[in-house]
Amino acid sequence: MHHSMLCILLTAAVLSCLVATVVASVSNQEGPECFRKAPEECTSLDASSSRCKTFGTDIYCCHIDSEYQLINGLRAAVKPSQKITALHIRNMTLVRLEVNIPEWRNLVSLSITDGNISQIIGTLESSHLSCLNLSNNYIEETDPLLISKLSTLVRLDISNNNISLTPTLSPSLVKFEIDLSNNPYINCHNVLDMLDQISRGPDWDQLHFDNRPQTVCRLCTAHTKCGPYTRVNMLHVENVEYMNKRKREKPSGPGWECKVEFRVLSAEKIFVLVDCSNLNLVELPPCLPKDTHALNVSFNNISSLEPVVKEPSYSSLTKLYADQNVINSIDVLEGSTFIGKFEELSLRYNNISIIPTYILNNAFAQPSNMVRKQLSLGFNKIQCDCNTVQVLKNWLIAHTHDISDPNDLLCHNYPYSSVMRLEPALLCVTPREWTDYIYYIIGGEVAALLLLLGKVSYDYWVFRTAGYLPWPASKMPKMPCDWVFET
Ligand SMILES: *[C@@H]1O[C@H](CO)[C@@H](O)[C@H](O)[C@H]1NC(C)=O
Ligand SMILES: *[C@@H]1O[C@H](CO)[C@@H](O)[C@H](O)[C@H]1NC(C)=O
Ligand SMILES: *[C@@H]1O[C@H](CO)[C@@H](O)[C@H](O)[C@H]1NC(C)=O
Ligand SMILES: *[C@@H]1O[C@H](CO)[C@@H](O)[C@H](O)[C@H]1NC(C)=O
Ligand SMILES: *[C@@H]1O[C@H](CO)[C@@H](O)[C@H](O)[C@H]1NC(C)=O
Ligand SMILES: *[C@@H]1O[C@H](CO)[C@@H](O)[C@H](O)[C@H]1NC(C)=O
Ligand SMILES: *[C@@H]1O[C@H](CO)[C@@H](O)[C@H](O)[C@H]1NC(C)=O
Repeated sequence: MHHSMLCILLTAAVLSCLVATVVASVSNQEGPECFRKAPEECTSLDASSSRCKTFGTDIYCCHIDSEYQLINGLRAAVKPSQKITALHIRNMTLVRLEVNIPEWRNLVSLSITDGNISQIIGTLESSHLSCLNLSNNYIEETDPLLISKLSTLVRLDISNNNISLTPTLSPSLVKFEIDLSNNPYINCHNVLDMLDQISRGPDWDQLHFDNRPQTVCRLCTAHTKCGPYTRVNMLHVENVEYMNKRKREKPSGPGWECKVEFRVLSAEKIFVLVDCSNLNLVELPPCLPKDTHALNVSFNNISSLEPVVKEPSYSSLTKLYADQNVINSIDVLEGSTFIGKFEELSLRYNNISIIPTYILNNAFAQPSNMVRKQLSLGFNKIQCDCNTVQVLKNWLIAHTHDISDPNDLLCHNYPYSSVMRLEPALLCVTPREWTDYIYYIIGGEVAALLLLLGKVSYDYWVFRTAGYLPWPASKMPKMPCDWVFET
């Protein structure tokens, strides 16, 4: 009983001591450093002596310039049955280093620093490796899978090299610290992918960058590839973290998920674009990522624009593409901040039958940031009558700079005609004819009156001269005022 307790305590003490010497030579706020020895502790550079030295189970090698020298140095320092747990190789000069070395399978810490190695190939396979330092080596390229099997890695220092692609991380990593500083050619999409992978859990800040002020990446305007004619933006690590956070806020629901993209003008101007097109949505996503600048919900079954006005997360939206939906009105936008500041609103192929011109007049009157507003309404079917066509056609003509497709606005009740091609004269034909006839009617009435007057005068004359009333006046019943004519 006592013996076993003692044994456990002793093992624990030895183990913790071992890990402490291996990993935590110097500890600062950035977490433990990898096992590392000073240049002065190198063995002398004469040809006969081994380039490697042992410190317990730790090995320190210097000035290696061939694979042969490395293998021999390790063999000389390590007994065949001995397991090495920490290795530091300083000043190694090799064009390509192959890392799949059997003696390295039990390493907890590996540092290969201050050398000249263009390329690292192979996959590291230690199941205990927690600290890897590849700093200061002029590395241009590593095997993409170099660290993909290191599920216990907590710290990677690859600073002061010239890599453009970061190696893929093990899918089981949850919390990780990386130093990518002073690699001026590193690709931002790559860093973003890495952040994406590691921040899948509930917390987004599982990936910690060391030396943040010196960590930058490059992003090319033509999406992922940097060509000779593409403009290159240098972004800071904060920018990439910002993009990652926006990506994590992507709208999604059962069976659908929007895409979050970015338009990067500079480190200060990153636009968030959300693509929810073609997802069979029947309503707008309830919540957008913070700062969403443009939203594409084309090819869905959305009927209402209400969230644009009601949802706070839509407050930064300036471009909305909602073509091919079943939106039947834009009345909800009246007086909204969106209608005041939008730059593009595309509602082609919807179910809008009335264009509320008064809502839009205000919007067009006040351009936002000197940007002209662009509205697309093509292939909606308007209920066309004399009045709407007269007003709407004039309005469309007056706003040809604001409406991108005035000729595509159709009439519901004139299937083959666009509003612009309809002649108001043609639609307004019925009421016009009635006013034309009014003169004939007035003429006819005047003639009838004259005829009546003539007949009455004739009757009167005959009555005075001949003493009798001609037909039909003689057959008429007597009226109260007839005494005028009698006598
Ligand atoms: C890696 O090695 C470099 C150069 O020797 C050193 O400055 C740095 O602190 C080391 N990083 C870690 C995490 O051990
Ligand atoms: C690095 O190693 C090479 C031999 O491989 C040696 O000539 C050179 O002096 C070493 N550099 C330093 C800084 O020790
Ligand atoms: C690194 O090694 C390459 C050859 O592999 C050589 O051309 C280059 O000059 C070396 N760089 C430095 C800084 O020593
Ligand atoms: C770093 O890599 C880029 C290409 O990825 C290359 O154009 C550049 O010359 C390299 N710089 C150095 C110092 O090797
Ligand atoms: C819209 O809904 C109808 C049925 O309500 C369905 O037939 C059609 O495929 C849907 N269209 C889109 C683009 O989701
Ligand atoms: C919106 O999405 C549709 C369908 O994916 C696409 O055809 C269209 O070009 C997109 N619109 C914009 C402005 O990106
Ligand atoms: C389009 O609007 C009309 C009324 O203007 C309505 O009867 C019809 O159901 C709507 N269509 C869809 C697909 O919502």
